[in-house]
Amino acid sequence: MLAGKRIVVGVCGGIAAYKVADLVSKLRQAGADVDVILTEHAERFVSALTFSALSQRPVYGDLWEPTGEAAARHIALGREADLLLVAPATANTIARLGQGMADDLLTTVALATTAPLLLAPAMESHMYQHAATQANLRLLAERGAIVIPPESGRLASGEIGPGRLPETPTLLAWISKTLGRNGDLAGRRVVVTAGGTREPIDPVRYIGNHSSGLMGFALAEEARDRGADVTLLAGSVNAIPPDGVTLRRVGTTLELRDATLEAIREAEALVMAAAVADYRVERPAGHKIKKGSADENPDGSLTLHLTPNPDILAEINALVTAGGAPRLIRVGFAAETTDVERNAAAKLARKGLDILVANDVTKPGSGFGTETNEVILLSAGGASERLPLMTKREVARAIWDRVVPLLRDRAPSSRDAEH
Ligand SMILES: Cc1cc2nc3c(=O)[nH]c(=O)nc-3n(C[C@H](O)[C@H](O)[C@H](O)COP(=O)(O)O)c2cc1C
Repeated sequence: MLAGKRIVVGVCGGIAAYKVADLVSKLRQAGADVDVILTEHAERFVSALTFSALSQRPVYGDLWEPTGEAAARHIALGREADLLLVAPATANTIARLGQGMADDLLTTVALATTAPLLLAPAMESHMYQHAATQANLRLLAERGAIVIPPESGRLASGEIGPGRLPETPTLLAWISKTLGRNGDLAGRRVVVTAGGTREPIDPVRYIGNHSSGLMGFALAEEARDRGADVTLLAGSVNAIPPDGVTLRRVGTTLELRDATLEAIREAEALVMAAAVADYRVERPAGHKIKKGSADENPDGSLTLHLTPNPDILAEINALVTAGGAPRLIRVGFAAETTDVERNAAAKLARKGLDILVANDVTKPGSGFGTETNEVILLSAGGASERLPLMTKREVARAIWDRVVPLLRDRAPSSRDAEH
């Protein structure tokens, strides 16, 4: 998504300016072309050399430098940009942007560009909460700027409050989301489930599974970066969920069932990548089960009675068949260990799915906790496609590529009608 994009990063004179060096480095690594503009005061905090070394391009600062290069570039930078990010956006620059001033290179480029403007305010919390700063941010947002909310925490001043520049992954997520806002999932509401469920045995133990959440997260990120409004229902995971999506945490399969039924009311597509427990402990103990306690059988063994969990996809199928959520596109996953294709085809039909993603979790590089996956995509029409080993993000791309035409057929958006 970032590869080949031209991103102008305006760095202002705030204490968080050093963090943006990492962002520029990550953008470059992702294949973006990054032009950095430092305000005069930013140069008091960070050096142009750091940014030119990281971006592998000249860094712009003084609009008035004698060669005229910067002055000549200001229109070109604005015209060529896919996105202008101001980070950290100081109270001062936010005010100047709000007033439409053009008294340095950054504010001049901001007026000269039609690219989306992304602002990452970062400052001491009273400055951030000041009515003037808030009014300027509101004004800029009304004009179409996207304001990344600062995080709360310990600030350079020692105070605790809102005003921290978010970390690089969060900034990258906002950039990707903004760049993708006119993508082929723009305006679509989609629900993705990820991770494993946990079925309690007692207050400290549970029955879980090896799902890492990586496949579901890749699906959520890919949909977000193609413009979708994503609800991510995440069970137990060992990765950080993506930013820029509506995240709901769930624990048990019953919680996931309720959250899914609620989320699909407004959704056009559901991708169930979560690994759901088929059984739960019928009566979890209210206390920690101890050796030698009355919980044990007379021979010292312990019996857990398992009861079946509801089959979420089957319930949704019944709902769709009964006329509820008639346009919902449903994608399921089948983690198989034997006879993958046949078991998967049977599951697709049984659950009334539009697409089923089958993978043999015993294959190297496939399934739980890996960065890659090798899957077979089965469609309701009978088509079956075996994809080579690829990253989970690439698998996610392939899945959404197949969901997009189904969405267009079943629930054309006003955008489709225009074309
Ligand atoms: C040590 C120091 C830290 C500062 N940190 C911030 C900050 O985090 N956010 C902010 O809005 N202003 C901060 N300021 C004030 C700005 O540097 C000042 O308003 C400056 O005029 C901003 O210029 P610019 O917006 O053109 O970069 C700081 C000033 C100093 C001296």
